[in-house]
Amino acid sequence: MPRQLFVTTALPYANGNFHIGHIMEYIQADIWVRFQRMQGNAVNFVGADDTHGAPIMIAAEKAGVTPEQFVANIAAGRKQYLDGFHISFDNWHSTHSPENTELARQIYRDLRDRADGSLIEVRTIEQFFDPEKNMFLPDRYIKGECPKCHAKDQYGDNCEVCGSVYAPTDLINPFSALSGAKPELKNSEHFFFKLSDPRCVEFLENWTQDGKLQPEVANKIKEWFSVRTNPDGTQSEGLGDWDISRDAPYFGIEIPDAPGKYFYVWLDAPVGYLASLKNWFDKGGPKAKHGDTRSFEEYIAAADTEQYHFIGKDIVTFHTLFWPAMLKFSGRKTPNNVFVHGFLTVNNGEKMSKSRGTGLDPLKYLSLGMNAEWLRYYLAAKLSARNEDIDFNADDFMARVNSDLIGKYVNIASRAAGFITKRFDGKLTSDFGTTGAALLAEVRGASDALAQMYEAREYGKATREIMLLADKVNAYVDQNKPWDLAKDVANNQALHQVCSVLINTFATLTRYLSPVLPGLAQAVQGFVGVDMQQWNVAGDVQAIQPYQHLMQRVTPEQLDALFEVKEAVAPAEPAQAAPKKVAKSAPAAIPADPNAPGGEALAPTISIDDFAKIDLRIAKIVNCEAVEGSTKLLRLTLDVGEKNAEGQPTTRNVFSGIASMYKPEDLVGQLTVLVANLAPRKMKFGISEGMVLAASHADETAQPGIHILHPWPGAQPGMRIH
Ligand code: MSP
Ligand code: ZN
Repeated sequence: MPRQLFVTTALPYANGNFHIGHIMEYIQADIWVRFQRMQGNAVNFVGADDTHGAPIMIAAEKAGVTPEQFVANIAAGRKQYLDGFHISFDNWHSTHSPENTELARQIYRDLRDRADGSLIEVRTIEQFFDPEKNMFLPDRYIKGECPKCHAKDQYGDNCEVCGSVYAPTDLINPFSALSGAKPELKNSEHFFFKLSDPRCVEFLENWTQDGKLQPEVANKIKEWFSVRTNPDGTQSEGLGDWDISRDAPYFGIEIPDAPGKYFYVWLDAPVGYLASLKNWFDKGGPKAKHGDTRSFEEYIAAADTEQYHFIGKDIVTFHTLFWPAMLKFSGRKTPNNVFVHGFLTVNNGEKMSKSRGTGLDPLKYLSLGMNAEWLRYYLAAKLSARNEDIDFNADDFMARVNSDLIGKYVNIASRAAGFITKRFDGKLTSDFGTTGAALLAEVRGASDALAQMYEAREYGKATREIMLLADKVNAYVDQNKPWDLAKDVANNQALHQVCSVLINTFATLTRYLSPVLPGLAQAVQGFVGVDMQQWNVAGDVQAIQPYQHLMQRVTPEQLDALFEVKEAVAPAEPAQAAPKKVAKSAPAAIPADPNAPGGEALAPTISIDDFAKIDLRIAKIVNCEAVEGSTKLLRLTLDVGEKNAEGQPTTRNVFSGIASMYKPEDLVGQLTVLVANLAPRKMKFGISEGMVLAASHADETAQPGIHILHPWPGAQPGMRIH
């Protein structure tokens, strides 16, 4: 009977693009999932964007778009990473979805309405409120002077200068980081999940300590149950209740029967796992894929459905306490396990911060033509089942890919294939000779041990084991020297044997590496005609197709380019007036410079991610007219290939300061370039829904003229400019 596996990775915040830490997590999970599929197990592997919460709401406001639009823009950027690194999610969804709203509310109601006593409690708490923004402030949006060392401009929960921990109410001269206003203390009713209830404590102590979790994870969790003194002298009180509500305005899911109250983002985030799975079932995915005709509800409640979450070490509390408790006490099945990984650092470098990302940009990696499977192999070689950090090191990366992956393994095929094709018409023999047969038996005999390593997520052990086998195969090559045998036709039989052994061992090693290198395995499948989608395949390779190069080596130039940091031309910092108010983000002023190209210095370097935020589209000017009362502006009506909810084509209205250069009738029918995701701007003459691109010199008087961009023929309205 195939196992029924429901597998997820953590849901990434929809406030930025993926960084290499996310990709590492997806690769770790994807290797496991692919291995399980090769075993014939039925896997549903899903992810989603984690869209709710104050930071995203505030980021959207800054960007001048609705939170819905903001998270939709982020979602649109996900596919290129997932496809690019061969991550085989069955479904990608969003926590801002009808499924998630319904499931989160139902789980909440089930917790609240328990027959043996509610686990939800309403309490009044005192909190800082921003009178200008009209909202309660999360701790990280309150700043002030540290009560201990008096450092200015410190966050509401701890001081970055002296390291002390305090409550936001302890700050001297607190101010709102959003508006600069002095926050007021205000009462508010909050909803709590009573985790300190004996029912929860007993359940969680057992759930976390029954041996399923990684030992280092279970040990850490143990501390959270006991009253203790922390290393910094503060007291911890054991399991406390969990504040699960936030007041409007909040981008989230409204709590049933509590208008103006929203679920705290971490309440609905893990429910997003179920929402994505439900969405996948409702689309008929499992039916098409595994012939599974059950409903989502039947599947998730089935005794044999196994549920696993891959997560990083920073979100263990949510996944080993809050989430299992939510499921258990709402009458649902709990996860079978939570697999915790450490953090990835780059070149011994800093931890990747969630906001700043890292020196290894995944999209840059792909755009340099670097092979995704190099990274998959390298990370596999470093990963174990333990919760420990790993480092991406450029030299180590090059050595492992070039010396091990290509030098030891890929080369086996290239050493044998030519002789088989040229001398034996592509046909193999199953007469392997004594040493050849023994070697092949040894390679094939590793199957069960390797399967156990993959099952246990010991990928580093597995790749080491596979490379040891490759070493043995290479020793066999050196002993039998096919290139010498080939010199005399009298040795034909021996040559045929040796090369057939090599192709067969290569096929088996490829199958072992297939969860890590799915693209390569597929190419090898075409070459040797052996199914690489199954773990156990009996029989020998019969014939091969002519060998085609399977994988390039990494070059030092690629690594240099990957980590190259262009010196940014820093714009002059304007003197900051205190107290700091967070200004509406205006673009940094670029100083005029008559000697610089176009009369202005180049702007600071941005990453490809920064550029990707700007959505440039081909637009057709379907109408253009002068604007009454303005000598500068033209009113453009643009077709960007958009449709409304009824499927009818729609156009955009854009004002552009190009009246001095163009007659309206000359522009009608022309194509141009639109910044399509610029926040709409209210102008005296109406709303401008974007901006068309035009070039001009910084010094208008020295070099007058403004020149609208015009794409080459063939571009169609709506196409994105990359
Ligand atoms: N949105 C939450 C998770 C909600 S799950 C219901 C979140 N998002 S995150 O984008 O900050 O992180 C997503 C995952 O990436 C987490 O598992 C996190 O541990 C992981 N990583 C973030 N930085 C990482 C590294 N530098 N290295 C490896 N994994 C890292 O937390
Ligand atoms: Zn301090």
